[in-house]
This record gives sequence, C-alpha cells and structure tokens, in this order.
Amino acid sequence: RGAALLLAGLALAGCGKQAETPAPAPAPAAEAPAAPAPAPAKALVVGTDAAYAPFESQDATGQIVGFDIDVVTAVAKSQGVEVKFVNTPWEGIFNTLAQGDRDLLVSAITITDERKQTMDFSDAYFDAHQLIAVGEKSKVTKFDDLKKLKVGVQTGTTGDEVVTKMLGKDSTNIKRFESTPLALKELEAGGVDAVVADNGVIVNYVANNAGSKFKTVNDPSFAPEQYGLAVRKGNAELLAKLNKGLAAIKADGTYDKIYAQYFGAKDAAPAAAA
Ligand code: ARG
Repeated sequence: RGAALLLAGLALAGCGKQAETPAPAPAPAAEAPAAPAPAPAKALVVGTDAAYAPFESQDATGQIVGFDIDVVTAVAKSQGVEVKFVNTPWEGIFNTLAQGDRDLLVSAITITDERKQTMDFSDAYFDAHQLIAVGEKSKVTKFDDLKKLKVGVQTGTTGDEVVTKMLGKDSTNIKRFESTPLALKELEAGGVDAVVADNGVIVNYVANNAGSKFKTVNDPSFAPEQYGLAVRKGNAELLAKLNKGLAAIKADGTYDKIYAQYFGAKDAAPAAAA
C-alpha cells in the first residue's frame, strides 16, 4: 500500500515535470511586482461525527460546536496550525482518515487496542464510561438486566461492543443505529428498552430532553474509557504536535476552562460524572 502510494506520488510528480512548459517571458513591468504573500499553510482537515452533544454537534446555523471542537481548536492555536472541521458520519469515519481525506479525527473516540492497529492516538484527553438510558419507570438497575431486552446502540461504538459481548453477536435484540440520538429517539418511541452509550452524551441528552422521561443507570462493570485524537498510522509529526498542544493547554489552564464550560468545575461535576 505504502509503495503503491509512493509510486503514484512519483508518477504525479513526474507528470508535473513534463507538463511544465517554459513560462512565457513576463511582459516588462514598469514597477517591480510586490512579492506574493506567502501561501497560508493548508488547514488540517478534522473529521468529526457531529451528532454527539456535548462533544460535537451542529448548532442552529449548522456550525460544528462542542467540547471536542474547542479542545482541538485550542490545541491547533497553541501549535500555530489551522484546522477545518468536517462533519463525517461515524460509520466510515476511520476510513476517511486511512484514505487521507481527513488529517485527524476528534469524535469522542475511545482509545482501544483494536483501533490502535489501524491508527495512532494522541495522549488521552477525556475520561468516559458506558451508561444505560432507560425509561423513567424501567425496572433495569444493572447492565445484566438488559440480557432479555431490546437494546439500542450506535453501530461500531464501544457501546455496541459491550452490548454485543453480553447479548451475543447474532442477538436480534440489539438494534444498531447510525447515530446515538437516533437510538435515543427509538427509546422514546418504545422501539427499544434501553440505550447504551458514553456517559457524557447520555447525561447531556437526559438533561436537555426532560420530555423524554428517561433515567440513567450506571454499572460498575463498565470499563473506564479514554478519548484520544486519531491520526493516520505513522503520522508521527502530527501526533507530536497534537500531544504538545494538549500538554500546553492543560498546563496553561485552557483545558480546564473548556472543561468547566461544558461539564462544570472539575471537582464539582456530579452531573458529568454520573
Ligand atoms: N466513545 C465511543 C467510541 O469510541 C463512541 C464515540 C461516538 N462518537 C461520535 N461522535 N458519534 O466508540
């Protein structure tokens, strides 16, 4: 794969050379033209599945906003690089990175050993765990209670993984959705009995959709998860920049400020910690 890319690159470079015809002699100018402004460095293209509030979502004007967006914007600023966020569906998001359509991904992505085989992760920037959303009157008190119920998850997430592990790969009780909000809508409609997803997103949804009449159920068996920024495997240069930037915004208080804005002050954040 690498060799093929390299060859393609060489071929392209070669084409460029051949196509280069001698530039026509510039018309003698009366005045020396002003030196062209240096081309602005190309913005890094950041993929994010913007249906995951409060980490990434689209506001009323379609702008992509959220905790992850603020963190990456601050990291980029500290490293003097430009970033451009592009809404990218979760299914296929890792492919856009591998294929070079995105330079990095921020999407509340849990660092897992499996994913580490095909991409590189920055240092962790956020702690999370799975959480269960059920109807207010549900009798569910622990993860095990979901064994005989219909459970909604977002396809290919760590929520999907834990539920698949418990219910079995072929369980018809697992309903997979392309986004977490769609799974939660289905819970409200009664199509599933529970949804399993990242705590921050479930807590945020329940807090902002009182009409849905949900409650959350935690379970000590849910493993601690950590979010990282993903780059193409081997992109050590960008990875080093991101880690430097993360360290810088943690050291200078920027990270804590952003955190407090979304989750409250660190040692007094019962909602986010639920
Ligand atoms: N943390 C979970 C995972 O990595 C879910 C992330 C989903 N993110 C999103 N923006 N939809 O699998």
